[in-house]
Amino acid sequence: MQKWVSRGLFWLVVALVLAQAIRPSRVNPAIAGQHEIQSHLAVDPAVDAIFSRSCNDCHSHKTVWPWYTNAAPVSWLVAWDVKRGRRELNFSEWGTYSPKRVAKKLDETCEEVTHGDMPPGIYTLPHPNAKLSPADVEAVCRWTQSVGGTKPESERGE
Ligand code: HEC
Repeated sequence: MQKWVSRGLFWLVVALVLAQAIRPSRVNPAIAGQHEIQSHLAVDPAVDAIFSRSCNDCHSHKTVWPWYTNAAPVSWLVAWDVKRGRRELNFSEWGTYSPKRVAKKLDETCEEVTHGDMPPGIYTLPHPNAKLSPADVEAVCRWTQSVGGTKPESERGE
């Protein structure tokens, strides 16, 4: 029995060491000031702070990569989230969005936070400060509506 445990542990360590060889890209593309959301919309300071605290790691080019994002398999998971997050919504590429996409992303932003789907639970675990309070959610939705979004789903009667 003991022999199997130590063999299992041995191979686990080997697998973890080998896994480190697969290094996903953890690059922050250059910040182009003219594409940042702040250059296109008046972002309410409270909302700006919420985005910095809870969203920018996955939805901008300002990702902070803590030490543990260096270690596989965490590195794979985080890099994948950042890649998909930026593809869906990127505050650093806001200036490249069409007016239609802007309106859609504003609505989706309010919807995601209202449903508690963003920021994801896997993110708030190591970043408890990123959790949004009901007041944060209200501030985000009030702002998205004030800059061209529509009313939240709940008030549209869908
Ligand atoms: C840990 C990374 C991470 C954080 C932090 C995060 N998101 Fe996301 N977000 C994602 C990923 C990955 C997707 C794409 C897959 C999905 O929809 O689940 C996404 C998708 C979205 C979408 C598009 C949803 C749709 O309907 O297509 C919106 C809007 C969004 N996030 C808003 C936010 C906001 C606002 C915050 C901060 C309050 C936030 N996210 C924080 C990873 C993140």
